[in-house]
Amino acid sequence: MSRKINILCVGDVVGQKGCDFLRKKLPDFKRANNIDICIVNGENAAIGNGMLPNSCEHIFTSGADMITGGNHSFKRREIFEYLDKKENVIRPANFGDGVWGKGYGIIDKGSYKVGIINLLGRVWLEGHCCPFETAEKIIKEIQRETNIILVDFHAEATAEKKALGYFLDGKASAVFGTHTHVQTADAQILSGGTGYITDLGMTGPEESVLGVKKEIIIEKFRKGFTTMFETADTPCFMQGCIFTVDKESGKTVEVTPVNVR
Ligand SMILES: [Fe+2]
Ligand SMILES: [Fe+2]
Repeated sequence: MSRKINILCVGDVVGQKGCDFLRKKLPDFKRANNIDICIVNGENAAIGNGMLPNSCEHIFTSGADMITGGNHSFKRREIFEYLDKKENVIRPANFGDGVWGKGYGIIDKGSYKVGIINLLGRVWLEGHCCPFETAEKIIKEIQRETNIILVDFHAEATAEKKALGYFLDGKASAVFGTHTHVQTADAQILSGGTGYITDLGMTGPEESVLGVKKEIIIEKFRKGFTTMFETADTPCFMQGCIFTVDKESGKTVEVTPVNVR
């Protein structure tokens, strides 16, 4: 039996078009690349942004094992109860006490377990508690069950993401960023064995601004007003990263950025 597992992390799925593209590409991609675990950021999966129970179900039936969120996790009221009920849909852990859902989850594959933590940045975003302290606390908890631990840090600033990556080096198997919808070219293994990428990118229309029709965003910046966001109608791509992790040590041994068109 192989000592290594391939964990695919997929960047923010945008709207119906992103969901449909994921459904079309993910199953074959997983087969072709021997993917053992698949984590998908779903915070923009619903039509009109946020996430809905049916968008999450669509992502699960397309092949995800865990869905992470971000600053749009609570945008739709319909998701509140679902977040409480569903074990494999998580939202950022560093909100205050008493909000719906949970900030981390554990996938039990029988012979091994994988913990996933979701955190929200505090630079230009509304992370409530310190993501660094929250991560440390939760990692200690998850380590009672497994040393394979991944962190989705949903944040805007590259500096904040890099700092958390270095802070968790040697403690987490991988730290990956989401939220900017732009894939960064810095996939690497840090010196302590933590896989790292500042941002996974997105899944949805490529010729767009974060998945939104470019004309709408150009207007927004040129004239200072915003009309309703509309998902762009251009060909899609699926972006993310594969972290190949040694099951025994919990360290990443290979990092492979993903770009599927
Ligand atoms: Fe997003
Ligand atoms: Fe976001």
